[in-house]
Amino acid sequence: MENSKRLGEAIAKKAKAKLGEIKTSNFPDGETHLQFIDDVRGAEIVLVQTLHPNPNDALIQLIFAGRTTKDLGARKVIGVVPYMAYMRQDKRFHAGECVSNHIAAHLLNQSVDKIITIDPHLHRVHDLAELFHIERKKLSANGEIANYIKKNFSSKTAVIAGPDMESSQWAKTIADSIGFNSTIFSKERFSSHHVKVTVHHELDWKNKDVIIIDDIVSAGHTMVEAAKEIKKRKPKSVHCICIHPIFAGKAFENIKKAGVKTIVSCNTIEHKSNGIDLSTLVAKEF
Ligand code: R5P
Repeated sequence: MENSKRLGEAIAKKAKAKLGEIKTSNFPDGETHLQFIDDVRGAEIVLVQTLHPNPNDALIQLIFAGRTTKDLGARKVIGVVPYMAYMRQDKRFHAGECVSNHIAAHLLNQSVDKIITIDPHLHRVHDLAELFHIERKKLSANGEIANYIKKNFSSKTAVIAGPDMESSQWAKTIADSIGFNSTIFSKERFSSHHVKVTVHHELDWKNKDVIIIDDIVSAGHTMVEAAKEIKKRKPKSVHCICIHPIFAGKAFENIKKAGVKTIVSCNTIEHKSNGIDLSTLVAKEF
């Protein structure tokens, strides 16, 4: 669909599936218009739509497409949502707030038969089953990231860092799988634009390429503060890898300015930093 055209094409090619066409546009008043160009009757339909950079429009398109597919007589409709937005508001932090992860999931539960997503931000919710009662599959980019690191760095000269405790499921898991040394920092968040990162376990940083791995880069402060802490320890170079490249505002430029040599992301969201392709991972599901 609109947000994931390239990834959708690559998945279709690798899964040897027919690439269908959906036209989306807006009525003059801003409402979404959506139309299937191909006949979907009796078919298993896979809708690939990431929920960034326009989470609201993208979600509406996905809901409309899912329900229309069923209306038109499809056998099964599977939503592939590489980046699942709305997962971070997983509790009522302040009185009166909407807990949007549950509501977004509820809408998808009504619209598709199965959901496939990649490394969703599950923090207080530990399992997709707490949100989705339909068939669900959580894929992880860890294997592809590990392959990228093995190709581009050596365990003798590079180490891996996770910028906060939650990042351990990516940073430490990947490091352990390919025999790289790693350390996980802790992070205090004061606001969306103010975080403090603390290093608890030092590594031998000298002459090392340090690779910071996190799931999401949003405003970029987590990566910037982690990079600054690492730079104080005078390594050879600092690199960032993330799964979901949101890079809100000037996040990308700010991370570069913090002295990071390379910034590489997975293609869950289309971005110039995309360097790790996840189409094979997804195509294996079909
Ligand atoms: C949150 O815990 C995530 O894992 C990321 O660390 C966070 O979303 C990054 O946010 P930002 O780039 O705005 O610091």
